[in-house]
Formats: sequence, structure tokens, C-alpha cells
Amino acid sequence: MAGNWKMYKTVPETVAFFEKFNPLVAGAKHCEIAICPTFVNLSAAVEATAGTNVGIGAQNLYWANEGAFTGEISGEMLKSVGCQWVLVGHSERRQYFGETNETVLKRVLAALDADLRPIICIGERLEEREGGWTEAVLLEQFKHGIGGLSVDQFAQIAIAYEPVWAIGTGKTATPAMAADAHRIIREQVRLHFGLEASQSTRILYGGSVKPDNIKILIAQPEVDGVLVGGASLDAVSFASIVNF
Ligand code: 13P
Repeated sequence: MAGNWKMYKTVPETVAFFEKFNPLVAGAKHCEIAICPTFVNLSAAVEATAGTNVGIGAQNLYWANEGAFTGEISGEMLKSVGCQWVLVGHSERRQYFGETNETVLKRVLAALDADLRPIICIGERLEEREGGWTEAVLLEQFKHGIGGLSVDQFAQIAIAYEPVWAIGTGKTATPAMAADAHRIIREQVRLHFGLEASQSTRILYGGSVKPDNIKILIAQPEVDGVLVGGASLDAVSFASIVNF
């Protein structure tokens, strides 16, 4: 159960969130919990979750270890502040910051090199769904962004299916739509990495997940977890998603 805070919350707001959130999820044994705050909040978030069952992730990383890359942050740097996870290829990175399937793969390899666990985001845009291109888009994103990993590398990642038209819009994919997309992705996992990997991998759904739709989404056997934006900003709301 992962939360993506996007560009929200200051350090004091981050600390206040975890004071409220940690006790609410302390008994959650059925899942791993990860929150991905902005870079400048990572240290405070790691400190505020020390000794708890809540892991911290970043929202992006650059693929070089270090160098003259103004404004960028490496996997090693994220690891050194205590991150365990990192989002890669979020649709907002693809849409506004020129992320491509090729740069997704570079970032994933860099994350794995730094011993971080990438959550790789894929998903179709509205016009692609309406044009009947959903499967083709997912296959393309999978092939170029994930397909180049080894079986061992693949075992370290999670995949998030986030239909772009459902992000921040209040429009959730129907459970059947989410399950269909997850089946397409899982079949790609089987073809590239084998049956065992396809059964053990975790595919998260993201896009307007809220406390009132979590049950029906997670009831789909294909949906292994969720990646939550807006509803992860409030401690009570995200805790009730975690504890569905
Ligand atoms: P919302 O839950 O706000 O739709 O955002 C989803 C998302 O983009 C998570 O990465």
C-alpha cells in the first residue's frame, strides 16, 4: 500500500502526518506500507518512521551516481538518507518532464544498483483508451521500460498500473477495467520472466483510490495493492485504505 505525495507537504506537515499515521497502521500485518514524499522531506520522513512498519520512498531519481547534473539526485543519495523505495516513470514525469520508456529503464537499473526497490508506473492516456490502444500502450511500456531486466532484477520491483485518465480526476477505473489491465501486465511478466515471477510479482492499481472504493478494487484477485495520491495526504484517510 503506497502513497505518492507528489508536490505536497512541508517538513512540519510531514512530521505531523506520521505522528498521527504511525499508530493507526501499527497493527497492519497484511501488507508493506510505503510513503513517497518530496526529496526535501525524505530525511524527516525516515526519522519520523524509524522503528515502524512504514517504509519511505522517493518519487524519482537520476541514473548517474554523481556528476555535473544540476538539480538531480542519485539512487545512492536516496539510499544514504534511508529510502527503501523509489517511484519511476510516473505519468506526471512522462507528461511534464520528458520521461520515456528508455529513461524509465535507466532509472530502474540505477535504483537497483543502489539497492532501492523501484515501483514502476505504467498506464494509458484517455485518448489511447478511447482509441482501443490500451493493450498496445501497456505492452510498449512494459517491453521497453521493464522487459530489459533480468529475472533477479525483476524480483525487486513492483509495478503500478495507473490509467492516466483516472489520476486526480475522481474517475476510478472500474474493478473489471483494472483487473483486465493487470491481467495484460501479468501475462507480459509471464512471457518475459516466467510463471513464478508472474505469480509472485505485485501489481498495484493507482488512480483516484479512496477509502470508499478500496474494498471493491482490492477484491479483484489481480489487484495486489494500490498507489494512492490525494487520499494518502490525510493520515486517517490513508490509514483506512491500508486497513481496508
Ligand atoms: P490520485 O490518487 O490523486 O488519483 O493519484 C494517483 C497517483 O498518481 C498515484 O501515483
